[in-house]
Amino acid sequence: MNLKPKPFEIFSGTGGVGKTTLAASRAIYLAQQGCSVLLITIDPAKRLKEVLSIKDEDAGKVVSISDPLGDGAKLDLDVELMNPEETIKRIAQKTDSDDIVKNRILKILARPYGGLNEILAIIELQLNMDKNKYDVIVLDTPPGSHFLDFLESVEKIRTFFDQNFVDIFTYLGKKSEPTKAGRGKRFMTKMVSSGVKKLLDYLSKVTGASFVEEFLEAVYTLYQSRNVFLDALDLQKGLQDENKSTWFLVTSVEQNKLKEAMDLSEGAKALLTDKSWVILNKCLLSQVEQWDPKTEKEKLVKNSFVNREKKHEDLLSSKFNNILRFSEVLRPEPLEHVRELVNQLREHKLIGAKNG
Ligand SMILES: Nc1ncnc2c1ncn2[C@@H]1O[C@H](COP(=O)(O)OP(=O)(O)OP(=O)(O)O)[C@@H](O)[C@H]1O
Ligand SMILES: [Mg+2]
Repeated sequence: MNLKPKPFEIFSGTGGVGKTTLAASRAIYLAQQGCSVLLITIDPAKRLKEVLSIKDEDAGKVVSISDPLGDGAKLDLDVELMNPEETIKRIAQKTDSDDIVKNRILKILARPYGGLNEILAIIELQLNMDKNKYDVIVLDTPPGSHFLDFLESVEKIRTFFDQNFVDIFTYLGKKSEPTKAGRGKRFMTKMVSSGVKKLLDYLSKVTGASFVEEFLEAVYTLYQSRNVFLDALDLQKGLQDENKSTWFLVTSVEQNKLKEAMDLSEGAKALLTDKSWVILNKCLLSQVEQWDPKTEKEKLVKNSFVNREKKHEDLLSSKFNNILRFSEVLRPEPLEHVRELVNQLREHKLIGAKNG
């Protein structure tokens, strides 16, 4: 099985397929193998938070969990519940200015699903990597394609910083950056004295003058912190380097989930390549295969289960070389899901890997 740990391991996939549970299990498994591991997770279900001993007030902090499964282990495992607001504070520290923390518009953008989350996740990854402390950073991603879209559209962001701001300042007749002293007002006055005045007047009427000022401040503050953003965007290269990163596309056996996963991979070809690992989660095949049906009806049920999962595997293997199957854990407790998935990782109950 060619699934050696790499500096980054990223779990992607659509909603509810088991990304967070698998990312946590993989992190625990790697720590059990002696790696120093950081798991960055994004809003796990409440019960998984309990499993990982994350309290809401710890959000954004790195918490050590040496014995996640309660078996007396002393693992080198840290967990961080991603919190965009905390990342913003770290950017403020790095850029020596707390403007970015105070701006109300940036606060809104940094809320969950506020629009800045994907890039803040990358910045968080970069800041953690700078610590040089971990062998592996396992990243759990939010459902769907936003995160992947974002990674694929990095060039647009670079152009935004490189070009749009230059355009704005040039338009304002100020080719260089304004100095810090009094720049909010000056920037504002320049804007207002330019052709944008009408629009801003209108906005002021609708939203109040303070909003307009704060909006301009937000734009300016982002520009001031652009190096942190641009540094983090360099990480994208690492994330696309197969020596540094392993991408997992998680899906589960339900029909619609499989289609969603295929669509997702289609939309993120640069990241989800034939080197990625596809995880078919919540499989029942191994359980069903052990079942000895007695009646004709039972035989039909068994056959339909077996055929369905084989069909899924065929469909996935038409596109991907590496497919891992994880069984459905037939117990309700999330800790048992994690414990059992760690076992499945350890016992190499993983099949279907052509490159393995
Ligand atoms: N192999 C499995 N067997 C049984 N239950 C599982 C398995 N994998 C995950 N689950 C359960 O499925 C549910 C969803 O899992 P999880 O929260 O990890 O999914 P997710 O993809 O991270 O969801 P979201 O998209 O909402 O972030 C949880 O209750 C989890 O314990
Ligand atoms: Mg999740």
